[in-house]
Amino acid sequence: MTRTAIRQAGNAANIDPRLWDSAFMRACRGEPAPRTPVWLMRQAGRYMAEYRAVRQGRDFLELCQKPELACQVTVEALRRIDADAAIIFADILIVLEALGQHLRFAEGHGPVLEPAIRSRNDIAPWIESEAAAGKLDYVAEAIRQTRSELPADCPLIGFAGAPFTLAAYAIEGGGSKQFMATKRLMYSDPACWHEMMARITATLTPYLKSQIAAGAQAVQIFDSWVGILTEADYREFVEPYVADLIDTMPDGIPVILFGTNTDHLLERFLACNPDVIGIDTTTDLNAAWERLGGPERISVQGNLDPTLLLGPRDRLLAGADRVLEAAGNRPGHIFNLGHGVLKETDVEQVVALIDHVHSRSEGA
Ligand code: CP3
Repeated sequence: MTRTAIRQAGNAANIDPRLWDSAFMRACRGEPAPRTPVWLMRQAGRYMAEYRAVRQGRDFLELCQKPELACQVTVEALRRIDADAAIIFADILIVLEALGQHLRFAEGHGPVLEPAIRSRNDIAPWIESEAAAGKLDYVAEAIRQTRSELPADCPLIGFAGAPFTLAAYAIEGGGSKQFMATKRLMYSDPACWHEMMARITATLTPYLKSQIAAGAQAVQIFDSWVGILTEADYREFVEPYVADLIDTMPDGIPVILFGTNTDHLLERFLACNPDVIGIDTTTDLNAAWERLGGPERISVQGNLDPTLLLGPRDRLLAGADRVLEAAGNRPGHIFNLGHGVLKETDVEQVVALIDHVHSRSEGA
């Protein structure tokens, strides 16, 4: 069991004690912390003036691919908001670009990946997995630079998209609501599906390891859209890959597994053996945590509705209180949103939210 394993491993990765003992890392391991740690998905993004200034006149991908820019955006977000962890600035889709798809972000249209994958012929030109991971060295370099600029006690989270969510983008050629092409390929050409999942996973393994070697203290795996699958489909088409990926991560480095609309999949997530499970807004955090075995078994992250940040302050803070109540001050809760910060968000709302979570949980 991971809970036991991560404690037995101790500080096997030889993490600086200031980071190892931080509230975020303690919560990942299910240990008591002086306050509830908080960070927000997409905390460095378009809602922040500092980000928009760096982004001005540049392509989004340039920000991901130039380590000094990715570092600047990551570190400036931490100066603006008092989060307990930083997440390296990058994107999940760069892995597909490294494998061989052409990636662009069409203004107002979201990501476009070409050619869309519809058969085994389409993945034949994909490059070998280790080589693809090698092309993403710029993320490791951004992590090295960011690690040296962040406060010594601020953990840095590395990340990647999960095999399913990446395969879905590759097949749809971009975002989707119903993921029809994805499911069609999965059901009608399972050999192609499994080859894709295997090749993506074989790329993610060295890629995440390189992020950890460069200075990430934890990693998050974003399976944003896997909630569209039934439990049976998850078992057959997804679980072995996620379980393998998590299994290859080094001892002592917590793994956070996140998805949305995944209430029906949380037991399967648990079976993949992450250290922390990300709970989305539509799931009751307390009920989910109880079902999964509580803090003795797993840590949880979440799950404030990001749209509350767009509403009045009192409703936002009341929502935060409900999340804290659901967690009940048990060790192993990391406060976060149920999904990423929306670009329409006022940064002052984020500042107030984080202060509130800190003051409510400090010494509680
Ligand atoms: O959280 C962070 O601060 C770290 C950076 C981060 C980004 N994307 C930056 C980004 C992370 C962790 C991601 C993950 C990501 N990317 C996911 C998983 C999380 C989730 O939201 O479910 C997904 C599905 C993507 C794919 C992606 N990248 C989409 C759908 C978009 C939005 C496209 C659009 O135009 O609306 C992106 C672009 C993106 N990634 C932006 C940022 C800050 C906005 C780019 C811009 O400046 O225009």
